[in-house]
Amino acid sequence: MKAYVVIDGEYRVSDVPKTSPKNNEVLVKLKVAGLNHRDLKIKDRVKDKSKSFTLGSDGAGTIEKLGDNVTRYQIGEEVIINPSLNWYHKSEAPPKEFEIVGVPFAGTFADSILIHKDFIEPKPKHLSWEEAGVFALSALTGYRALVTQGGLEKGETLFIPGVGGGVNSFIIQMAKALGARVITSSRDPKKLEEAEKLGFDRGVLTTGVWKRELADEQIDMVIESIGGATFNKSLDVLKKGGRIVTYGSSTNDEFTFNLRQFFYGQYKLIGSTMGSREELHELIKLINQYKISPIIDKGFAFDQIDQAFSYLASQEQLGKVYIDFAK
Ligand SMILES: NC(=O)c1ccc[n+]([C@@H]2O[C@H](COP(=O)([O-])OP(=O)(O)OC[C@H]3O[C@@H](n4cnc5c(N)ncnc54)[C@H](OP(=O)(O)O)[C@@H]3O)[C@@H](O)[C@H]2O)c1
Repeated sequence: MKAYVVIDGEYRVSDVPKTSPKNNEVLVKLKVAGLNHRDLKIKDRVKDKSKSFTLGSDGAGTIEKLGDNVTRYQIGEEVIINPSLNWYHKSEAPPKEFEIVGVPFAGTFADSILIHKDFIEPKPKHLSWEEAGVFALSALTGYRALVTQGGLEKGETLFIPGVGGGVNSFIIQMAKALGARVITSSRDPKKLEEAEKLGFDRGVLTTGVWKRELADEQIDMVIESIGGATFNKSLDVLKKGGRIVTYGSSTNDEFTFNLRQFFYGQYKLIGSTMGSREELHELIKLINQYKISPIIDKGFAFDQIDQAFSYLASQEQLGKVYIDFAK
């Protein structure tokens, strides 16, 4: 079958063997696969460059074959892939067995995926195929950052810079559903206007002077994923004793910040990454209850996958980019 792989530090379409499910495994025929920022960077992180790995962490499709001991699902059932492998229960950090679908584990940018039965979930009924195929990695990351690690309380004010991000667009919707006041930012005023459909309360330009513009706000928590380019500006608007949660760094990972300002302000810095199967179940319950859907930007056919990668890298998008295997 055709797959989009990384080999010798490059991305390319390749023929890979299609295998049958063994004990406790299922074979899922993919309809849609979602792109993530991770897919763009993974080629630099592969240790054994001579091996071929199928990319892609998100996807949705139907069960094509069942291995032995799989009784919970039937052939033809509509499912989503849980990209967060071997992390079953909420814990302070992922267990050492934790892996993400798509390098080194074979990913979703292929005709089908072989996966353990514990890491698929029934497709939420209110989501279209496109929405279901892009949902899990971003929404799960957002859920853990906002709820488990961030501990958002009803009535709190959340500031989340970078409205264009796939994870951030979920966090905004979930935070609103949970009763928070939400402020966001974008470099692009048009994007900010278009993103109003997410339901946030206030938007500012990322390039503005936040300390002055947001002086009238009491910000309880910042979820900061832009990284070095904005971290200090984010800290400047956080109320004393407030928390700053980080799950990503779209700009530089390393930068300096003022430790004295930090400890005088009694701030709390919290890291977060992906989430467990238990958190995915909580998340699915939440999105079913509030009918939350991902914001979809654009779909590409599988033979346009290079263009889809360039488009994601351009950061023009608002929301998720996907591959449609039926196109
Ligand atoms: N730890 C995890 O489990 C996990 C999971 C998923 C993602 N991540 C990480 O989280 C980050 C966000 O990922 P994503 O795919 O949601 O979004 P993304 O495409 O990396 O960007 C998020 C948003 O950040 C803003 N931004 C990016 N570069 C900027 C810059 N130079 N200056 C100012 N603003 C900038 C942009 O907002 P505007 O376009 O609105 O200005 C952009 O849309 C990435 O670093 C990703 O690797 C981590």
